[in-house]
Amino acid sequence: MPPTRFVRLSAMTMPTHLQDRVDQLRSGKFLGVQFDNFERTGREQLIFLLMCGLTPNSTLVDIGCGVLRAGYWLIHFLDTERYCGIEPSKERLSIGLTTVLEPETIQLKRPRFDHNPHFDTSVFNERFDYFLAYSIWTHAAKRHISMMLDNFLRDAKPDAVFLTTILPAGWRRPDYREDVWMGTSHESDTPGCIYQDLAWIKRECRRRDLSVYRIGKDRTMGQTWLRIARRDSSPRIADIRFQPRWKRVLERLRGI
Ligand SMILES: C[S@@+](CC[C@H](N)C(=O)[O-])C[C@H]1O[C@@H](n2cnc3c(N)ncnc32)[C@H](O)[C@@H]1O
Repeated sequence: MPPTRFVRLSAMTMPTHLQDRVDQLRSGKFLGVQFDNFERTGREQLIFLLMCGLTPNSTLVDIGCGVLRAGYWLIHFLDTERYCGIEPSKERLSIGLTTVLEPETIQLKRPRFDHNPHFDTSVFNERFDYFLAYSIWTHAAKRHISMMLDNFLRDAKPDAVFLTTILPAGWRRPDYREDVWMGTSHESDTPGCIYQDLAWIKRECRRRDLSVYRIGKDRTMGQTWLRIARRDSSPRIADIRFQPRWKRVLERLRGI
């Protein structure tokens, strides 16, 4: 089917609102993300990136982009050919490209994708300003995390930022020590989520001369966001930090 005809037909039959389009998928199989709050959870990822200096001309790789929950917002926001996504599940990405993203946006923004399962960001021949791995370290083995950090050093610009999320391990939530991905993927239909020891992540970052900061928890999924960057780098655009709650309360009491 010629591309222009595809655009017209799909645009006519697609519900206008993102959440309504995603709600149509509820009767199908699990796609690795919750249908409730889909629109909000993706938008929240964009907000965290904006607070860490994302601009339209930034280049970004979304590792494990799934059905484009964040990709939807990022592809809209970023300039043409600035968004790259890695997703080993062809089925999930194809649903993202047919149901989540509008065909005219695909044509205009020309996002690039790859299906490799090795977190290999070099396939795009690009030096990135941002690495994003949302709800990936909540399923990944430690060797996967090490691979992503090594690839960040290899394929990111000197002042680049790696934003990722974890569920921190604690005394009731044991650190994940298995060597395999836990959760649904291109290879598995078994859901699952794991916890990571933040001290181990800090050591891995220090070994690579990377800094790591906890920058907050998101409201939709309760995941803890980490901001990783080279130690000697200074961000071109200063981060906009969330004020801690105690500071906001104090300022209100002082009438500021
Ligand atoms: C919990 S989902 C998160 C998806 C996306 N980041 C989001 O916020 O909607 C995890 C995704 O990682 C993908 N995945 C599984 N193994 C992977 C691998 N080896 N490399 C990259 N992504 C992988 C899964 O298919 C799934 O789409």
